[in-house]
Amino acid sequence: MSAPTHAPAPVSAPAAASPTTAELLAFVLRTAADPELVASLPLDPEGRTWIRLDGPGGSEAWLIGWPPGTGTGWHDHAESRGAFATARGKLTERSLAVRLPSEGWRSLELAPDVDRGRGVPAGAGRGFGEHHVHEVLNESRTEHAVSVHAYYPPLPLIRRYSRTGPVLRLEHVERPADWQ
Ligand SMILES: [Fe+2]
Repeated sequence: MSAPTHAPAPVSAPAAASPTTAELLAFVLRTAADPELVASLPLDPEGRTWIRLDGPGGSEAWLIGWPPGTGTGWHDHAESRGAFATARGKLTERSLAVRLPSEGWRSLELAPDVDRGRGVPAGAGRGFGEHHVHEVLNESRTEHAVSVHAYYPPLPLIRRYSRTGPVLRLEHVERPADWQ
């Protein structure tokens, strides 16, 4: 068989191609498998540490260290999709299998069957779409965890929630200025 002779000349990818969830997941998995980068993160037993990374296609990416027993609390990333992968240790993700209205409520009662939970061990990752509500924790009592996260579009805001049994309450909205 001969090679096709009329293959189109390569066309550069659209400059503004925004990364898909699958591409974000591929990036975080690849990055979490880079031992030199992972080792460059300073670890602090007292709190989380982080380094900003260049994500693909203009996405926002972070390398994060989690001391034993730390977690994010419940939150979402508004209109951003994203992915994370564990590089060291093991993280747990608790999430809601329901699409919540993005605006116009302060408190709502969740149906009894919407809670999901999964362990994300080193080498594994997880992608999610917009309005994904979750919390991520390092439940280990002894081991630090390290993970890589990417979001696109870059996070315009994070909505933080409290959870009391089935009741989810919007506590506050964080914007990038709050993270400086
Ligand atoms: Fe998150």
